[in-house]
Amino acid sequence: MPLQFISKPSSAIQGDFIVPGDKSISHRSLILGSIAQGTTTIRGFLPSSDCQATATALESMGVRIERFQEDQILIHGVGKYGLIAPKNPINCGNSGTSMRLLSGLLSAQPFSSSLYGDNSLNKRPMDRVINPLNLMGAGIIEGKAPIFIPGGKTLKGIEYKMPIASAQVKSALLLSGIYAQGSTVIIEPEPTRDHTEKMLETFSYPIKKIGPKITIQSHSNCLGCDIAIPGDISSAAFFIVAASLIPGSKLLIKNVGVNPTRTGLIEILKQMGAKISINNLRNYGLEPVADLQIEYSPLKGMVIPAAWVPNAIDEFPIIFIAAACAEGETILSGAAELRYKETDRLAVMIAGLKRLGIQAQDYQDDLRIIGGAIQGGEVDSHQDHRIAMAFAVAGFIAKETVIIKNCDQVATSFPNFIQSAKSLKLNIEEIEHEI
Ligand code: S3P
Repeated sequence: MPLQFISKPSSAIQGDFIVPGDKSISHRSLILGSIAQGTTTIRGFLPSSDCQATATALESMGVRIERFQEDQILIHGVGKYGLIAPKNPINCGNSGTSMRLLSGLLSAQPFSSSLYGDNSLNKRPMDRVINPLNLMGAGIIEGKAPIFIPGGKTLKGIEYKMPIASAQVKSALLLSGIYAQGSTVIIEPEPTRDHTEKMLETFSYPIKKIGPKITIQSHSNCLGCDIAIPGDISSAAFFIVAASLIPGSKLLIKNVGVNPTRTGLIEILKQMGAKISINNLRNYGLEPVADLQIEYSPLKGMVIPAAWVPNAIDEFPIIFIAAACAEGETILSGAAELRYKETDRLAVMIAGLKRLGIQAQDYQDDLRIIGGAIQGGEVDSHQDHRIAMAFAVAGFIAKETVIIKNCDQVATSFPNFIQSAKSLKLNIEEIEHEI
C-alpha cells in the first residue's frame, strides 16, 4: 500500500543536524570508480534507491562493489575497457541521473544494452541525451525509455552546443567522450552542476574548461582514489526552509556541499530575507563544504530570474513553499525544465498549494505565488520525492494537519527523511494508505 505523510504544525527547531550524502556526487563516484584502474573508497555515499539503481547496473556489468557500512563503500574498478555485457535490461527505477549518465557510458561499450525505468522515468524526455549521442555515432532509436543501445560503435567526438541547461546531458557526453575518437566539446547555455568535471579531475582524468566550453579526449584513464561526499544541499533544503519559516528556530546543518553551481536556494532565500550563514567553509577533495546556520526570519516575495533556475533546479518545490509563506508575491520565469522532472513540478505544486489555500498560477512557463497562510488539507505528491518533502514542510507551518499522499519515492533521495525530521521534534508520521 502506498505511503502517506501526516504533517502537523510544529514548534521551533534547534540544534545540530546532518543530512545524507549528495545524490549527484554519489552516482558519479560509482560510475567513475567502476571504470577506474584500481580501487576507490567512498565515504558519505548516499544509500538511496536511485544510487542503488546505478550500483546494481554497474554490478550487472562485472563491477564488484563492497559495502562496509551504508555510507561507506569500496569499488573494485574494472578499468576503462573492463565492463562486460549485462545479462538483463538495466532497471533505472525512478532515477533520471542513472538513465542519462549510463546512456553515455553504455553508448561507448562493445556490447548492446537496454535501460528502462518506472512509470515516471519512462515518460521523461530522453531525446535530449539520445540526439547528441547519436551525433557521436551511438545509433540509439529516438524516443522515451526503454532505451536500446546497440553498442559496438566507434564514437566520434563532436562539438555540441547544448540547447538546454542539463548537467545530466553534459555528464552523459563527458562519459562517452572518455571513449570517443578526437575531442568531445560541450558548450553549456548556462552553468549547471559541475560534479562530473570535478570528479573526473579527482580520478586524474584531464579535461579542459574555458568559460562555457568543456573539452575531453579519450587518451587517458581514470585512476582509483578516495572520495568523501558532502551532505546533499538538495536534502538540506527542506530543513533550511523549515528553520527559516518556523518562528524561534535556530538550526546548524553540518557538512553540506556548497558547490556554487548548487547554491541557488541559499541566494534566493537570502534575497527573500532569510538569515543563513555559511560557516567553516572547507573542501572535500574538490567539492566545497560548509556548516549552514539558519535562523527564523520573516520572508518577502521576489522575482526569481530565469538565469537562476539551473542553480536551484531541484529546490523549486520547497522554494514555492517558502514563497507561499512570504509576504507579497513571488514570480518565477523560464521554469519550463520543472515540467520534465519526476512529475510536472509546476502543475503538481500549484495544485497542492491551491488545496492548502494559497493563490498560485502558471502562465506558460512562468509561475506566480501570492504569500498567505497555509491551511490544512490533503495534497498528492504523485510519487515525486521532492514534492512530498516540500509539502511535509508546509504542514509544519500550516494552520491544521496536512496529509500528503503517495510519498513512497522519498527514499530515492532521502531514505531517513521522517526519522531526520522527528529528530528535530518536527510533528510528522508516515502511514500506509488505500489507493
Ligand atoms: C542532476 C541534474 C539535474 C537535476 C537532477 C540531478 C545530476 O537534472 O535536476 O536531480 O545529477 O546531474 P537535469 O540535468 O535534467 O537538469
